[in-house]
Amino acid sequence: MTVKVDFPATHFHSGAAVDGVALLTLDRPEALNALDVQTMQELVEGLERLDSDADCRCVVITGAGDRAFAAGADIKEMAEATPVTLGIANSFARWERIRSVRVPIIAAVRGFALGGGCELAMACDMIIASDDAVFGQPEIKIGVMPGAGGTQRLTRALGKAKAMEMILTGSNLSAREAEARGLVTRVVAREETLSAALALAGEIAALPPLAVRAAKEAVNRAYELSLEAGLEFERRNFFLLFASDDQKEGMRAFIEKRRPEWKGR
Ligand code: CAA
Repeated sequence: MTVKVDFPATHFHSGAAVDGVALLTLDRPEALNALDVQTMQELVEGLERLDSDADCRCVVITGAGDRAFAAGADIKEMAEATPVTLGIANSFARWERIRSVRVPIIAAVRGFALGGGCELAMACDMIIASDDAVFGQPEIKIGVMPGAGGTQRLTRALGKAKAMEMILTGSNLSAREAEARGLVTRVVAREETLSAALALAGEIAALPPLAVRAAKEAVNRAYELSLEAGLEFERRNFFLLFASDDQKEGMRAFIEKRRPEWKGR
């Protein structure tokens, strides 16, 4: 197994115990958690299993060891590939499956997030980075270019000028710069990275899951649709939530000045 699935100790939010957080660990520290086919397969299967588990409300992905989140796709595995073998393997379809996951995903990034590792972090919904995290798309230095979303997501996150520089030169971005430019949610001390990501996940897990998923879906549409289509999508999701028990409960609890009890229905 190259991906570990854990349900870490119960988290606390506003004094109340909160479950529902799962932790996926990329577990190839000897290869800086390079994303070989087996790791990607286990990662996608793990995410899809958790996504269909009603008790799982938020997922954190991290890398084992103290050096890397992931240093990219596995170069040794890829070195002799041809367009035909890549096409037949269709490995990149796994990235589309990650995009379809509805439960929120937080990347806890310590050390290197390079190439496919940076692309995986950007495919997550939020990134908590250690102060020594390094983001980059160095594929140009090995004769290729990003192939799992880097040219698109990095450009949307940073703007054309900075993304172009990084992708054409293979230069890296520090955690602080990534935070200043809106690529990451928060930078924390190295030893606090995982606990900060788990705490954020716990906070989300304590909230009504239908609304969380609908909101995630709508924010992601901001990248993909025109403003008009995105606003229309947002409004439909907003209206739909009024069919949920949690909407009635949330608003009644507010009026009655009590804590809401979410049913996830
Ligand atoms: N694939 C396979 N193995 C990798 C790897 C990768 N992406 N990154 C690191 N490793 C392996 C190294 O080969 C080494 O293994 P051995 O001990 O067996 O030699 C081990 O991990 C430790 O790495 P280094 O000895 O290189 O460690 P370092 O501290 O000297 O350098 C590094 C660290 C700068 C991150 C360097 O490892 C590096 O440049 N890695 C490759 C980064 C890269 O080019 N990523 C893009 C890959 S292509 C891609 O991702 C395509 C895509 O868009 C999907």
